[in-house]
Parts: sequence; structure tokens; C-alpha cells
Amino acid sequence: MSSEPGTSAVRLWGGRFESGPADALTRLSMSVQFDWRLARYDLLASAAHARVLHRAGLLDDTEVARLLAAIDGLSRDCQTGAFRPSAADEDVHTALERGLLERVGSLGGRLRAGRSRNDQVATDLRLYLRDHVRRVIARLAELQTALMDQAERHLAELTPAPGMTHLQHAQPVLLAHQLLAHVQALGRDVSRLRDWDKRAAISPLGSGALAGSSLPLDPEAVAAELGFDAPAANSMDAVADRDFAAEFCFAAALAGVHLSRLGEEIVLWTSREFGWAEIDDAYATGSSIMPQKKNPDVAELARGKAGRLIGGLAGLLTTLKGLPLTYNRDLQEDKEPVFDAVDTLLLVLPALAGLVSSMRFNGQRLAREAAAGYALATDVAELLVRRGVPFREAHEVVGHLVVWCQVHGCELADVSDEDLQNVSPHLTPDVRSVLSVPGAIAARDTVGGTAPGRVTDQLAALRQQVAADATWAAQS
Ligand code: ARG
Repeated sequence: MSSEPGTSAVRLWGGRFESGPADALTRLSMSVQFDWRLARYDLLASAAHARVLHRAGLLDDTEVARLLAAIDGLSRDCQTGAFRPSAADEDVHTALERGLLERVGSLGGRLRAGRSRNDQVATDLRLYLRDHVRRVIARLAELQTALMDQAERHLAELTPAPGMTHLQHAQPVLLAHQLLAHVQALGRDVSRLRDWDKRAAISPLGSGALAGSSLPLDPEAVAAELGFDAPAANSMDAVADRDFAAEFCFAAALAGVHLSRLGEEIVLWTSREFGWAEIDDAYATGSSIMPQKKNPDVAELARGKAGRLIGGLAGLLTTLKGLPLTYNRDLQEDKEPVFDAVDTLLLVLPALAGLVSSMRFNGQRLAREAAAGYALATDVAELLVRRGVPFREAHEVVGHLVVWCQVHGCELADVSDEDLQNVSPHLTPDVRSVLSVPGAIAARDTVGGTAPGRVTDQLAALRQQVAADATWAAQS
């Protein structure tokens, strides 16, 4: 097949084969339908490689200038859509090589020196992910900010909420404290992704097919030009390693799990049974048959998308398991789970951020509910402990008091002095002093507790961290 302008497909190994590939093989091999999104990064790596070939004396001044101009033009044409992969292009690398051959003829083929698709694809995927991780972090920071803004509003109003364990009323908390719990989880996701970036910042370029190159390339210079910290220390590892893809998919899956837990809470909060919050019309859906319905689809999709993120991770790990060194074509399967994870997060996060920031909490209902279900029982028990009653005994006394209230259909605060004494002599009338939701919340003043001062400190620290993360994501 000719490599002059007008070529319709690029074949990389024509020399040793007598017949062309079978259609079924071509169709199976094809990855351009999903790896085309690596085009930008492939061209960046090609420009860096061209400069290295020039410094190695393998391209003269005119040749490198022509090649760089062609790469530049091709890059622009890819952006505008003027250049697109054709039906005959196998993958992004062959499509772009065709583009170069069409522009500069056989000079385009010179770029293949010292480089293989094996180190190329590993480099492209790292570049793509390092770029997109920053976009994901920016969106995570926006969701965190939406949660923090709600928290700040409700911290000012000291809005309480029934804190739950086992989905049963446990102890009252500040609504802000609960909202910030989600911000903490998302903060760990961001921290994990930033940490991921340190390990991902290794350049495979220069590893060639697997063994390095006999040409005087400069992997350090290429690494630096592409924003990597260093070139890979082992060329075999460099072309076989997909830890960066698996690790990213894990970080994405865990973020997905966090979003699903937030989504589930929002589904509950906005149900009639809870009635804690209402979804803004812009983020609610209706029913085609039931006119009264207002459904939390955004929260449900956030919950549901975790499944595909986890599935992508499991699929990728399964692909990698047992692969011998070095490159094997199985590795082509690394891209779709990675791309899908990026797409999924970039789709879910803005919707969830909008849902959270426009949600309206029902402070009155939350205040009523915060005290319900004998949620202040622990406060009475802890008061008795402060007076020297062993906790075991205090727990039992208050347990009896709760049963007494259940039998008489009343709240802890409604029990008369006499009845308190009948339940236990430890229950003096002043135990009522701790039977207040604001009092119970203010009393939980340990580090990380729900007392307003602690939540204020927590919010301030989170604001600072989120701002630093957003700056990091915008910079690099
Ligand atoms: N499309 C291939 C992939 O994604 C590029 C590398 C092909 N390398 C090879 N030796 N066939 O993995």
C-alpha cells in the first residue's frame, strides 16, 4: 500500500504478509471508534517525539519544521472536525499517521522511528487521564461547595436533624454536620485522585515496543515536555503497566459509591415519610401518568451510576489479571472503562451539585423530628454517668424510662417528677435540663462532634482544602 498523499488506510506491517487481513479481524481489531478521543494527546506526544528525533540527528531542521507544522495543522483539523478517522483506520495512532502522510508524504513515516504504538498508547492514556482527573476534581469541588453552602446556611440557623444509625433515630445532630460528612467523603476522593497523579506522572515514551531503543532518544526530555515527572525506569513495565488505569477506575468507583450514598439520602429526605427537604422543580421529574408526582431521578441516577463504575473497575482488573509481560492486545480493553468512568463522573457531578444547591430543607419539620424517637435518651444516661452512676446502670434506668413513655404514649420530657422517681431514684426532676435538642447538640463538643463550634471549625477547614484542590485542578 502506498504511503503517499491520498492513502485511505495505513498498514503498519505490510512487509512480511502475503495477504491482507480478514474482515472479521479488521472489525475485531478496530478501536478508533472509542480511542479517537486520545487524538489531542497522541499529537502532543508526536510533536515531542519529533523534536527528540531532531536532536538525535534523525531529522534535519527543515524536516522537523515541516513535521511540526503538519502536526499543528492536523491538530487544528482534528479540533474543527476537518480531519476525522475514516472507516479504514484501525485506531487513533494509524488514523493520525494517515493524516500526517496525507500532509507531508513519506516524511510522516519518519516519526515511527524509535517509537511503537505500545509506548505511544500507554503515554496517550496517561496524558488523557491526567488532564481529565483535573476536570473531575473541579466538578467534585463544585459539589462539595454546594454541600458546604447548604451547611453554612443551616449552621447559621442551627437547624437540627435526627442523626440515625440503622436508619432509626439515634441522636440529634446539626443538619450541617450531616451535610459536611458527605463533603469529607468527597474530600478523600479528591485526595486519592491527587495522590494518583503522582504515580501517573511517569512517561512510557522511549520504551519502544518493550525494550527501549537503539536510537539516541531522550526519554527525560520527552517526559519533561509532556509534563511528566520522569521517564519510566523499566521499558517492559512501561508498556505492560495499566496500574494507573485500574487505580483511577478504583478512585472513580469509590467516588461513585459516595455519590450513591448521598443520592440515597436525598431520595429518603425528599420522600413524604421523611419530608426533610424538597427538590427544586429544575432538578425533579414528573410522572407520565400520575400528575401529583415529583421524583428524585437525579439522586437515583447518581445512586445507579455507581454500578457501572464498579463494573468498569472489575472488568479492567479481570482483563489485567494473568497477562504475561509485556504488551498484549488485551490491553486495548483498558480504554472504555476509563473513558466511561470519566464520562459518568462528569455527567453526574454537575447534576448532583445543582440538585443539592437548589434543595430546600424544612427546618421546622427537622426540628420536630430531631427530638422524636426518644433521641435524647443517651443525654439522660450520660447525665447520670456524670453524677457517678455506672453507665451500665444508667443505660438500664433510661431504658426503663423509655418503655414507660412508650406504654403511656408520651415523650421523655412529659414524665412527672413522681413518675420519674417511680422509674428510678436516680431520675431527679433536673434530668429534664438535658432534654433539649439544642442542648444535646451543643454538649457534643469533642473534636469532630456536632456542637456548633466544632462544625464551624470543620467547615472552615473544608473550605480551605476545597479551595486548594480547585486551584490545583485549574493550574496543571
Ligand atoms: N490500539 C492499540 C491499543 O489500544 C494500540 C497498540 C497496538 N499495539 C500492538 N502491538 N498491536 O492497545
